[in-house]
This record gives sequence, C-alpha cells and structure tokens, in this order.
Amino acid sequence: MKAKTDFEELISFVQYSKGQCYVLCDENTFKHCYEVFCQLIALKVQPIVIKAGEAQKNIATCEFIWQKLIDNKADKNACIINLGGGVVSDIGGFVAATYKRGIKYINVPTSLLAMVDAATGGKTGINLGHFKNMIGLIQQPEMVVLHAPFLNTLPKKHLKNGFAEMLKHAILNGKDALNELTLNKDITPQLNEKVILKSLAIKEDIVAQDPQEKGHRKILNFGHTIGHAIEYAAQENGCEILHGEAVAIGMIAALKLSVLKLEFDCNEADLVINFIRSHFSKPAWISANHNKIINAILQDKKNSNQEINMVLLADYGKPVFDVVCTLDEIAKILLEL
Ligand code: GLY
Repeated sequence: MKAKTDFEELISFVQYSKGQCYVLCDENTFKHCYEVFCQLIALKVQPIVIKAGEAQKNIATCEFIWQKLIDNKADKNACIINLGGGVVSDIGGFVAATYKRGIKYINVPTSLLAMVDAATGGKTGINLGHFKNMIGLIQQPEMVVLHAPFLNTLPKKHLKNGFAEMLKHAILNGKDALNELTLNKDITPQLNEKVILKSLAIKEDIVAQDPQEKGHRKILNFGHTIGHAIEYAAQENGCEILHGEAVAIGMIAALKLSVLKLEFDCNEADLVINFIRSHFSKPAWISANHNKIINAILQDKKNSNQEINMVLLADYGKPVFDVVCTLDEIAKILLEL
C-alpha cells in the first residue's frame, strides 16, 4: 500500500463512517495539528487525547483509549485516525487491532519519523517497562495520508530524528540513493514531500515483499539492535534520547561490525560514519553504560536461540540479515563508537 498525499479517500471514509471515527492525538498534535486536520478534511471528528512521549506507550494508555471507545459505544465499524508521531501511530494501531478483535485505523503522521517510517508497514505495539515494542502485532492501516506542512510545527531536533531513518533507507537502497541524500550539509531544507516520498518508497517496497517480517523485511532493522538498546539504557538512566539519535549511533556500530564481519570496505563505511557523526553526537553517558546496553541487546526481538542476530552490510544496497554476532564483538565495537 502506498501513502497518499491528498485527503479525498479519507474524507469519503469519514463521511461513510457516520460518526464512528475518532482522531487519536497527543497533547502536542491536539494543540498544533488537530484543528488544521479538521479544516483540511472540512469535517469535525471527535478527538481522543493522550499525554505526549514514549513513556506513554504502555498498557495504561491503551486502557484509557479502549475505555473512551467503550464510553462512546464504538462498535466493529469504528475507526481510529492516528494523528501524530510514532508513539501515536504505534499505540493507536495496537488499540485498533485489539479492540473488539480488530477495528480499522488510518495513519496521518505529523512527524518526519512517522512519515518516513512508523506510520507505514503495519507495525503496532507498546513498550513493556523500558523494553521497546515488546508487545504488539503487525496489522496494516486502512490508509496512510501524508501532509508535509505538518513538519513546520517541529523543532530541528525532531527533523533530524526522522532523517536518521531516511539515511537508513538510503543505505539499504544503495550508493545512488545515499549520495543524493547526503549531498547537502544541512539536512532540513530538503525535507519536502518529494524527498519524503522517495525515502518512504524504499520502505514500502521492502514491506510489500515481506509484510509479516518473516525474512527480507528484517533489513529495516539496520542500526536498531544497538539503537533500541541505547534507548533502553537511556530510560534506565533517566536520560533523554530520541529514537533517530539512538539509531544513528546504532548504524555507526552496524557499519563497523560490517567491516569486521562481512569485509565491508572500511573507507566506504567511514564516509557514512563521518557523515552521521557530523549530524549526531554520541551522548557522554553511553560510555559508562556499556553493560546496560549489552544486557538490553540480549532482549532484542530479533534474537533466537540466545544468539544475537544483526543486520549488517556486504555493501551499500546489499544488507544481510540474521548475521550472528557475539557479545565480545559487540563490546569491542561499543568501545570504538
Ligand atoms: N521500522 C521497521 C519496520 O517497519 O519494519
């Protein structure tokens, strides 16, 4: 399924639903995007508002939303429109997929991260404690509608957050996509609809080949094994790190491991490592928390039989999934970050 850039189909859907659509927002998207969204579709849709932030992606927030749906007598024909970033689409998708054994949901992403990644592909879920996305399922949204002007409400830090996933897509796609994306020193001015759709198309193509992540789709986890573990360690330490910032550091680690394990050209790896370093700095607390990061890696969803499975590169455009890495190899790479 390809993302749309106009609201026509969504409008028909809402009109046909006869008041059974609900817009899930967090406090920020309720403030900055909800009225704009209602104007764009020229319809008023009932909002359900949750607190903002990754810490809200838990079962308590699900209960809150399920209860709102029950209070409103939402039936099997109801639909949730997730208006927000990755937290809103992940939790809203999960609530929809489980409410009365499944109702429809639509994603209208408002952050760059959600536009290029989280809103597409049907991954829904919540965190368990500090472990990311431990509970969830894959259920495709009814549709995804992109409206790039929503990005104007975002601070630069959040644009960089999404840019890390765009960089991942380009690395997976090959040298041409990578050169095109890394051409400009300042990443933000180029974030228009065309560039976003190009990056998203790389993900859409991978998901179309393997929607349930039985094999090929695993390559989208490039940089995420160590990235997620860094996010876990951050939460344990009460430190802040955005998903894209953690993934950027995770991609540096994966590039270095690719050189070590798959004979990926060291100079080629350094080109992108240096580019990432020029945009994302490693927080100081990481060096003192290697053990926490390694413990979190052991909990990674992609592991099997106690082995750590990572996505590495034989070359740009040639990712290899399920490469078994040892704890010693990972510990060595963490020291080099
Ligand atoms: N964010 C990775 C995926 O959707 O598979």
